[in-house]
Amino acid sequence: MIVAIDGPAGSGKSTVAKAMATREHLTYLDTGAMYRSVTLACMRRGCDLASDDEVVSIAKRCDISFTDGGTKVLLDGEDVSADIRTAEVDACVSRVSSISEVRRLMVATQRRLASNGDVVAEGRDIGTVVFPEAEVKVFLVADPEARAHRRAVQRDGGDEATGKAGNVDAAEEKAVLDDLRRRDELDSTRKTSPLVAADDAVRIDSTSLSVDQVCDRIHDLIEAARAKGESEPETKPDHKEEGDVRSETKPAKVASRRDAKAAPKPMRAFHNVRDDYFDHGMREFPWPSRAIFNIAAAIVWALSKIWWRWSFENEDEFIEHVKGHGSVIVMNHVSMVEPVVTVVMMWAHGIRVRAIYKTEFDSNALTRWVFSRVGGIPVDRGSADLKAIRRAQRALERGECVLIYPEGTRIKSDDEEVEMHGGFSLMAQLARTDVVPMAVVGARDVTPKGHHFPRPLRVFLSIGRPISFEQLGVKGRKASLAAMEEKAMHDVFELRDALRREHPGKE
Ligand code: DC
Repeated sequence: MIVAIDGPAGSGKSTVAKAMATREHLTYLDTGAMYRSVTLACMRRGCDLASDDEVVSIAKRCDISFTDGGTKVLLDGEDVSADIRTAEVDACVSRVSSISEVRRLMVATQRRLASNGDVVAEGRDIGTVVFPEAEVKVFLVADPEARAHRRAVQRDGGDEATGKAGNVDAAEEKAVLDDLRRRDELDSTRKTSPLVAADDAVRIDSTSLSVDQVCDRIHDLIEAARAKGESEPETKPDHKEEGDVRSETKPAKVASRRDAKAAPKPMRAFHNVRDDYFDHGMREFPWPSRAIFNIAAAIVWALSKIWWRWSFENEDEFIEHVKGHGSVIVMNHVSMVEPVVTVVMMWAHGIRVRAIYKTEFDSNALTRWVFSRVGGIPVDRGSADLKAIRRAQRALERGECVLIYPEGTRIKSDDEEVEMHGGFSLMAQLARTDVVPMAVVGARDVTPKGHHFPRPLRVFLSIGRPISFEQLGVKGRKASLAAMEEKAMHDVFELRDALRREHPGKE
């Protein structure tokens, strides 16, 4: 169950979200605290807040986590719960949270923190961007004066939830009101993810309601969503009912609800079943598997570098892009060289990638074992393999990349007829992420017909610019899926042709 509570500063989100988390046994996620933590880190390091680059580079290095039921915030392990609520941080946080790259990093972390699926998250863009598939969405509002009074009381040590009063004077309240108005304006008018209610959010005005009254209303919404979830047949992701606007814009709903129910238990050191490897993040794999993978990756990296002297064009920009953020990578497929070198190149940068492989490989016991341990996810190409799609979606939401070969099999000659598999586009759409095109040349000649031992030939790879659904600007779920498939594969072949021009004779 995901409960999204959005609304302007001081509308009572934190108090209500914390109370709901306790009442419903959900994880509490305070996303505002994360933007505040980045702001604090920037201020402590004397960063120029006017420079997006400086702020982003600090945001990338911030390790933000929560303890005590989500009520304490740790920045690089230090408890900063009090330090992030000062007037200085208040004054700067809107600027920091308006930077789209900072938002992208925070959203990826928020999805990871909520990966157990049972969460009440509060913020500004939870119902619209972070969890558009949330079962319950609330947009909490209150008169500005009421909000300013609550904030001022809180600052003076009062607490509305417990009835403890603070000593607030009128001037202080006026200053808080001015700051709230300024932040409302900035948060609602910024370009990326402005504060707006999701179309399907329920608006609750808390001006004259007590905390308990607001919680009772949200409780009713949760009960209604649970009842609906139980009575609703599971819908296929590409199913759309007549006139159902929500299913047009919220494709992740069903998959996420199922996933929430099936939140996997942590892996054990030994005796895991094979499915455990597909359902967990690679960093959660048991230590023996991780150790073997790291040793094997280091050896393969070194040997493949010597044997094929491979290189990726635009490697640095790509690595910057996928740090802490899962992207779908699509590529042309000519041999086993390109998945191997892509995985080890990314491994060398500390980035985990899940390669989607055809279930045919599972008929061999050794490849079955190896592919599951190196992060592969099997896909049955003959069907709309929803299980594989959901596994990929969850990997992306955890911040892992997914590597996929839409041609489905190795293409030995350009004349071969190819059937494209567009599942990658759906994976990206469900996980609300982008697609990065890549291409390879030179690998086809490594094991031509009649050769079983790979020849020591140079292999060239190139990485294109990430493609987001927003940039495609296509309305409607199915149309944007098709547009993504077309654009991504077009870019892959364009990159490949450019590589061929640069390295004549390489296939
Ligand atoms: O909820 P709060 O006051 O702690 O949030 C601090 C700031 O962070 C606020 O000015 C808006 C921003 N914020 C955001 O942009 N998106 C969120 N999901 C949460 C907060």
